[in-house]
Amino acid sequence: MKNTVLTFKEMKDKGEKISMLTCYDYSTAKLMDGTVNGILVGDSLGNVMLGYEDTISVTMEDMITYGGAVARACKETLVVVDMPFMSYQISAEQALTNAGRLMKEAHCNAVKLEGGRAVCPQIKAITQAGIPVNAHIGLTPQSINALGGNRVQGKTEEAAKALLEDALAVQEAGAFAVTLECVPAPLAKLISDKLEIPTIGIGAGVGCDGQILVYQDMLGMFHDFKPKFVKHFGNIGDEMVKAFRSYDSEVKAKSFPDEAHSFKMNNEELLERLY
Ligand code: KIV
Repeated sequence: MKNTVLTFKEMKDKGEKISMLTCYDYSTAKLMDGTVNGILVGDSLGNVMLGYEDTISVTMEDMITYGGAVARACKETLVVVDMPFMSYQISAEQALTNAGRLMKEAHCNAVKLEGGRAVCPQIKAITQAGIPVNAHIGLTPQSINALGGNRVQGKTEEAAKALLEDALAVQEAGAFAVTLECVPAPLAKLISDKLEIPTIGIGAGVGCDGQILVYQDMLGMFHDFKPKFVKHFGNIGDEMVKAFRSYDSEVKAKSFPDEAHSFKMNNEELLERLY
């Protein structure tokens, strides 16, 4: 059965934790579908798929290409696609136009955008058009230049109050869920307790209603940097390197391809003539 925004709300109401991972391609999404409740095609693809230093350069076309690949694979898991930097900040009209493109061209189930009170007009416009919005507050990577780096947010009383106000505001604007990134665990728990919509934490402790990780991080496939909150649930990166090396060795030793992996030709005379 397909997970929907209603499933997320029901899970929060029953006290069941919601699992989400990022994903960016069809083959991985086929493996992931049905194993977690939600997949985010995050603009973190700028880092892990495209090798940029941050998410600023990611485009609508990138999100449509990768988002579409994941959505085509997912029969059970809810697919959320990130709205990239400058695809929604300018106006509610711009936000609605681009959210509509993600729904129509990537065929996702919901969109995600970063920001609190400042983007509530955008959240209202998008949700009123029937498109579910996942808000994202705390560390918002698209604002990395304004935040001065990847820092934990909400540490002072003033910042903690502002974060709570942002969370309540995005709920009021119509968001179906809110991602809390790099927020002290006790504050994230308080926000989760105060909200009716689910909170999805990344670096925000166990008190959130759900969790999300970047899949290359949790599989041990990405080593450019490892935030404190990342846990390796596998070492697929090491397995991949091992397989690449053994392929290289077999090619050089001429043990691959063997007969089992080659095609036969019946007409030997033809070959002789061609020689
Ligand atoms: O882009 C992304 O992957 C995200 C998650 C880190 C929440 O926004």
